[in-house]
This record gives sequence, structure tokens and C-alpha cells, in this order.
Amino acid sequence: CGIVGYVGPQDAAPILLEGLGRLEYRGYDSAGVAVMTKAGLKVRKVSGRVSALAADLPARFKGAPGIGHTRWATHGGPTPENAHPHTDSAGRIAVVHNGIIENAEELRAKLTADGVEFVSQTDTECVAHLVAAAFSAGATDLEQAVRWALRQVVGAYGLAVVDAEHPDRVVVARNGSPVLLGVGEKEMFVASDVAALVGYTRQVVYLDDGELASLTAGGYRTFTLDDTSTAKSPSTIDWDVVGAEIGDHAHFLIKEIEEQPTTITRALAGRLDERFSTAHLGGLNLSVREAREFRRVKILGCGSACYAGDLGAQLIEDLARLPATSEAASEFRYRNPVVEPDTLYVAVSQSGETVDTLAAVQELQRKGGRVIGIVNVVGSTIARQVDGGIYIHAGAEMSVAATKSFTSTVTAFALLALHLGRIRDLSPTDGTRILEGLKRLPEQVREILTLSDEIAEVAREIAPSPSMMFVGRRRGWPVAREGAQKLKEISYIHAEAYPSAELKHGPLALISPEMPTVAIVPDDDLLDKNTSTLSEIKARSGPVIALAHRKLPVELADRTIVIPRNEPELDPILLSIPLQFLAYHAAVALERDVDKPRNLAKSVTVE
Ligand code: G6P
Repeated sequence: CGIVGYVGPQDAAPILLEGLGRLEYRGYDSAGVAVMTKAGLKVRKVSGRVSALAADLPARFKGAPGIGHTRWATHGGPTPENAHPHTDSAGRIAVVHNGIIENAEELRAKLTADGVEFVSQTDTECVAHLVAAAFSAGATDLEQAVRWALRQVVGAYGLAVVDAEHPDRVVVARNGSPVLLGVGEKEMFVASDVAALVGYTRQVVYLDDGELASLTAGGYRTFTLDDTSTAKSPSTIDWDVVGAEIGDHAHFLIKEIEEQPTTITRALAGRLDERFSTAHLGGLNLSVREAREFRRVKILGCGSACYAGDLGAQLIEDLARLPATSEAASEFRYRNPVVEPDTLYVAVSQSGETVDTLAAVQELQRKGGRVIGIVNVVGSTIARQVDGGIYIHAGAEMSVAATKSFTSTVTAFALLALHLGRIRDLSPTDGTRILEGLKRLPEQVREILTLSDEIAEVAREIAPSPSMMFVGRRRGWPVAREGAQKLKEISYIHAEAYPSAELKHGPLALISPEMPTVAIVPDDDLLDKNTSTLSEIKARSGPVIALAHRKLPVELADRTIVIPRNEPELDPILLSIPLQFLAYHAAVALERDVDKPRNLAKSVTVE
């Protein structure tokens, strides 16, 4: 979901619509705005896209302040009633909200008993009624009313409130869901993500959990729920990280796939230490002595970040000889995990806002765990929460499906593994081998980009299949998982990923001429094992598309996509890119909404 807000001399609506359009990639099944017009506070909401809202907005929506929202349904379906902003019964207060109010049922029952009539099924509507109730209970200003309301709320929120009786301001609050202020010349902006502020201001103030802010055209004041003032000064944002424009590309996804030579170069920039055959990682915040004392590494993330973590774990185990595992943060946090002082925890998140990953970090820190982050968005919540880490500097990733952030994250893991390896027992020769391999990556990715048309042909062949199998072994296994995930999320073709050797323990029963298999077959010490898996599939008449370093005989694979080879530890980075193309071209062939697949959001800030 996304929040935007504006207060200042301009009309709010165009600014809100532009900001919402830029946030749409985060969640988008309904959208709405509330604007303080000459004729009072006006609200307009639609189910569907921001473009539908723009088309539906009457000319009389002139004035400011205003607030807007794009929603990804959690409580209640994506109907206009459930879209934000929500108002109190008198239409005086309007609220937009990200997050989940946990005691919404209780608040709803209390408010209903007091005679309030609810019009939506959302948890957010409670906040509008509570703010109105605060005024009935004697609050004199909007800041006081919002503080009073939020003291009764349990749960996570990033929210913005406007009040027709205080038409010069927007009050915002943050607890577990990001809110930032944009400081302009005699105008102020609000956003849940810096992307919404592109083109308006570079000066931003990040709110912390438990903090509120009151914004007028002249400036802002930050304070806590008990009205203690907090001192906050603006920081300057780097538009390279947020200013993504689609340019001539048909979709952000293809643009982001094609950016990978550059994004991998950026992940490596300034970090290769050739003199000592190691990686220089200034942001880790770990002394050599501390780093040497770790006995284990545990990696946490969600979705593609977790699969990148699977590859990271293998890199660390291979190069640093430390036992390493990766787990979905959303599972880890509910397991009452044993947190050990000699384990290095690594939280992975492109957005730096995924709530399950953040909760895992907080749980670890509560129990004394040392957590570093591998994050894309600078200044994001997870980036600020961790004790140090590696920014991947992949630039804004707009398409919901992760592509360049995945390869950059794995690249960052290679650097981390090299760094840890070289202060443990990785030889200088092996260090140099990896360094040289890393340096070759951008050029090899460029070569893979030339395979787009060939892979498009394969994609058109598999597009009618109801289901696909992806298999890989060892480092090929996370590549297969990520490949299956990409295909599912953007083409909606069902796909299963299996470790190659596990195929015969069940899923081989599914193999038939209608079920194509994508097999990851790098030219490594396991090649023989992998070819016997292919024979098993071919013996059941299953079509095979192989990703390999040289063409395989037709008895083993109907198609081979041949890609350049690097060092075995780094090959997975290259192997994942053809699978991004496969998913992309299949989605295009099936006329899917590539950048905004149904039911999904870029950054999942709900639990
Ligand atoms: C969502 C996105 C995925 C992403 C995951 C984790 O599910 O659709 O593409 O991998 O969240 O996001 P993060 O920002 O934490 O990497």
C-alpha cells in the first residue's frame, strides 16, 4: 500500500495522483484521495488503478491539503467502500493508513456501542471515528486528537490525517509502517516511500516508530504520543535510487533485467581489494576479530530475498567454511528460535520494509543477536534497524517481481563470503579466483542479454502449459526455486521447483508430455548426476529445456540455452538471468500485467 500527502499553495490532487502512480507498484487494488476544497473536504475512491481514479476525479477537486492512498486489500475486499481515505460519520476527518490495527474489532464494538455507524469493513475506519471522538471529548487541535486516538490503537500503522476544521495541516504518525516527510519551499509532502516524492523535493525526514508529525505549508514539527517534541533534521536523498523512469521499455521488468550489467557493477564498485584478494565492505561494522569469532551464519528474508539467501548460504559455506543456512523470515520469527552470540545473522530485503523480515531482526536484537542487512533502499526501516550491512545499490526496482535486486543480492553475498573467507581460511589464490570471476560478471551478463529472442521463442512454446517443473542440484536448486517463483508470479503458470535428486521421490509421477521441465545443468562436478536426472525425465516423455554451459544432446534436452561460465560459486548469478527472461516472455505471450501481477505487492508490510 502507499500513502501520499500534500500541504502548500498548489492544488493537492495532481501531486497526489502522480505520487500514487509512483507507489502503485507496491499494491494496487484500489485508490483514493481526500482534498480540502473550497466546498469542504471531498473524498473520491475507486477500485482499480490510480489511472481509474484520475479519470474519475471531478474538476472541483481543487485545493489543499490533501491525502491519497493505493491499497492492497487485507481487511475486506478491494471495493470503493474499503478503499482509503476513510472518514468519520460527519465527513470532517479523513485518514489514509498502511499497516494493520490489531484491536480493530474491539474498537469497532466500542464505537458502535457509542452510536457510530461503520460503512466499510476496514480496520482503518476506526481511526477516523476515534479522531472525531477525540474532538467530541474535548480535543482542541488535530495533533492532540490524533495522539488521543492512537493511544487506543494497538498495531502497526503509517498514517496521515486531515481535518476540515483545521484545513491548514496534515498530521501523520508512524508505528511499524514507514512514513517520511518531504520538505519543500513553503510546502510539505508526505509519503510512505521516497519514490512518491520524485521531482518534488530531495529533502526528507524519516519518522521513527512512535513518532508523529504535524505539517503545514511553513514546515513541520515532530513529537511523540505523549507530546514530547523530537528533533529531526532533513537528509538529502539520492534520486538514482528512486528516480526510475520506464523510458522506451515496454515494461519495468525488462528494463530491470537489462540493467543487470550496470547494477552488478554498482554492487561491486569500490569493494574489490585486489591487493589482499578480498572484498572491502565498509558498512559491515564488524572488526576482523569479531568476524573471526562467528561460528555460524543464519540468513533471513522473504520471497526472492530468501532464495537469494539460499545462494548466499552456499557461498558462505563454500568460501568461508562457516555453516550457513537461509530461512523464510516469516517462519523464523514465529519459531522461538535459539539466538546464539556466535552466529552472524543476515537480513535480506530489497525494499527494507518487509514486515516479517523486520520483525525477525527485532526479535534477534531483543535476544542479543548481531544482525547485518543486505538491502537495496537506502534509509529504509530494515537498513536503519540493523547493526551494519551491505547496500546493493541496484537503483529503484519498480516491477513487483525481483530481478536485478536478486542478482545484486547474490553478488553482495559473494563479497561477504569472500570477506569472511579471507579472514578465515580461504587462500589468496582462491580469493583472486573469485575476485576475477566477479569482475567478469557484468560482461557475461551482457552476453546473456543477447539470448532474449531465443528465450522468447522457448517461452512461447511453454506458455500454453498448465504446469512446469524446475529442477536443479546444489547451487542450481535455489536458481530453480527462484525461476519457478518468477514464472508463477508474472505468468500465472503453475510451477514447482524440486532438487533434481528428489524428483524420483514423488514428483516424477507428474512428468508427462504436458509437463515441461527446466533443468539447471552447469558444467561442474555434478554434470553426470544431472544428466541422469534428464534421462529419467526424457524416459517419461517429459519435454526438457536445459540451462547449461554447452549444448546437450537432444536425447537429454529438447532445447539447451547455452550461457557463459564463470567460477562454479558465481555461476548461479548468470544462470538465474535466462529464467527471468523465460518468465517475462511467457507473461508477455499470455498478455499478463507484467509489472503489476494480480494479488501481489512489491513490498509486503502486512503480516
Ligand atoms: C514481495 C515481492 C517479492 C519480494 C518479497 C520480499 O513478496 O513481491 O518480489 O521478493 O516481497 O521483499 P523484500 O523487499 O523484503 O526483498
